[in-house]
Amino acid sequence: MKDPREFVASHVGAIPRSGIREFFAIAATMEDAISLGIGEPDFVTPWHIREAAIFALEKGKTSYTDNLGLRRLRGEISKYVAKNFGVEYDPVSEIMVGVGVSEVFDCAIRAIVNPGDKIMYHEPCFVSYSPSVRLCHGIPVAVRTRGEDGFSFNMDEVRKSWEPGCKAIVINFPTNPTGGVADAERLKELAEFAAEKDMLVITDEIYSELTYDGGHVSIASFDGMKDRCVFLHGFSKAFAMTGFRIGYACAPKAVIEAMMKVHQYAIMCAPIVSQEAAVEALANGRESMEKMREQYRRRRDYIVGRFNGMGLDCHCPKGTFYAFPSVKRFGMSSMDFAKKILEDSKVAVVPGSAFGESGEGYVRASFSTSYENLVEAADRMEAAISKW
Ligand SMILES: Cc1ncc(COP(=O)(O)O)c(C=O)c1O
Repeated sequence: MKDPREFVASHVGAIPRSGIREFFAIAATMEDAISLGIGEPDFVTPWHIREAAIFALEKGKTSYTDNLGLRRLRGEISKYVAKNFGVEYDPVSEIMVGVGVSEVFDCAIRAIVNPGDKIMYHEPCFVSYSPSVRLCHGIPVAVRTRGEDGFSFNMDEVRKSWEPGCKAIVINFPTNPTGGVADAERLKELAEFAAEKDMLVITDEIYSELTYDGGHVSIASFDGMKDRCVFLHGFSKAFAMTGFRIGYACAPKAVIEAMMKVHQYAIMCAPIVSQEAAVEALANGRESMEKMREQYRRRRDYIVGRFNGMGLDCHCPKGTFYAFPSVKRFGMSSMDFAKKILEDSKVAVVPGSAFGESGEGYVRASFSTSYENLVEAADRMEAAISKW
């Protein structure tokens, strides 16, 4: 009999596990460690949203829904996106609800990638972009972003990285893990470039509500871009709903139709209870979301100040709940820094290399933990570093 490993498809076997999980398996075994590694809100989902989920169960809402999602939820999404992002989508044919942005992203990639198609994305980036492309026999094409540019993209780099066969570009502003954003001017240049090369833009705007300085602009809102964009958004970050596993895609009808087939045969539909909770989040969740955002802002200002104070050069993230300080001056890899700081201070941060090669030299420290934890973590790190 074959070794069971031989049953695994070679392109799947070739993909490494997420570097974040690898690292946190080590941290989890340590007593008294403070984790700045998590990529999810430390807040519990606001009560009125949980209550909507409970109420849905009490009313006996336990069935499948339409593959695209509850019509009422798609109606709320359409209103929310029009009001907050300035793009109008038809709730009947241009919106699909899925199991988090993770799933709708995967559906988008599977819907558009033919074997050998190239997909650009800026890096460092969310861990799933490149593997999702590879799982479809596509070719990921990374565009480096730099601390000097505040981790926004640099159009020269985009042009240099482009190759014939690039079908789409994935963007994510504000960016996990860097907190980088892109202003309207830069996005406009990118929109023009996408038009010039006739590429689709997949825009993951999951952190858009968590923008602290200046407003968020969606590339989908520019003239002519709606038909060239797949707009992805969800509930995990802004509404602290990671466990509900709910997100959505807005795109031209033909793309939604293709995504729906992928979703239908793999998942059927997102859970109805989560969809009911999502309706409540969009209809009445603004106030609770803004309160959480103010907490994140206060923590960001604190931790960025502390990192710079202890000599970890840290640009100020304009969005997300991640700081991305440089550890280059210590002359070790980001993985070695993360291991050493964990050993010496019992504070867990994620090596930047987990987010792609261009994350090397940095670590990701999440400030989605209490202010008190941040104070303690910064004190411990500072004390450890001062002895190096
Ligand atoms: C940029 C980005 N996109 C998508 C996701 C996945 O979110 P969801 O919980 O909606 O699947 C994450 C989660 O960390 C993320 O950081």
